[in-house]
Amino acid sequence: MSAPAAAAALEELRAAAATCTRCRLYERATWTVFGEGPPGAPLMLVGEQPGDREDVEGRPFVGPAGRLLDRALAGAGIDRGAVYVTNAVKHFKWVERGKRRIHQTPLVGEINACLPWLDAEMEVVNPRIVVAMGATAVRALFGPAARLTRMRGERLELPGGREGYVTVHPSSILRVQDADQRHLEMSRLVDDLSLVARRLPAA
Ligand code: URA
Repeated sequence: MSAPAAAAALEELRAAAATCTRCRLYERATWTVFGEGPPGAPLMLVGEQPGDREDVEGRPFVGPAGRLLDRALAGAGIDRGAVYVTNAVKHFKWVERGKRRIHQTPLVGEINACLPWLDAEMEVVNPRIVVAMGATAVRALFGPAARLTRMRGERLELPGGREGYVTVHPSSILRVQDADQRHLEMSRLVDDLSLVARRLPAA
């Protein structure tokens, strides 16, 4: 697909996903938070679902987890502007606690309902490498038997001849209380992304 055709196809997908009712999560979310990045990006990063900030702004990874991801990408020498960033589930799932909206992990049915969008993004963007961040993305991309801890650090195969990798979700690092442990987890994420960076075609 030519670059203009891919850009047009991606816009069409984004518009179609904006009115998605494939599961009930659309009822309480503000927007469908579709993926973002250049069509033809060699690298696609897949998270779980938009968080509170992403639901407000309508863009993926713009809240605290996104800032941590930006730092990790910079640490690995990857330019976020050249990456397509998306989520396995495209509506924010939350419960109210006082004045706060607390993220809830999506159910298998919700992950599966959203899969056609992820598959379509993959088809149009056509990345050479796809990274699943966290258990939800790992399940969406590699199936129910896949396990992050077992697959981390390995080069995996995805349909279309793509390379797949798995790593932790950036928010899991934000939740680590102990500072030393948090730094360690951050450097492991940077290591995972550095491994990916070495597999990318030279810019
Ligand atoms: N967490 C995710 O999985 N995705 C986002 O876009 C933000 C936080």
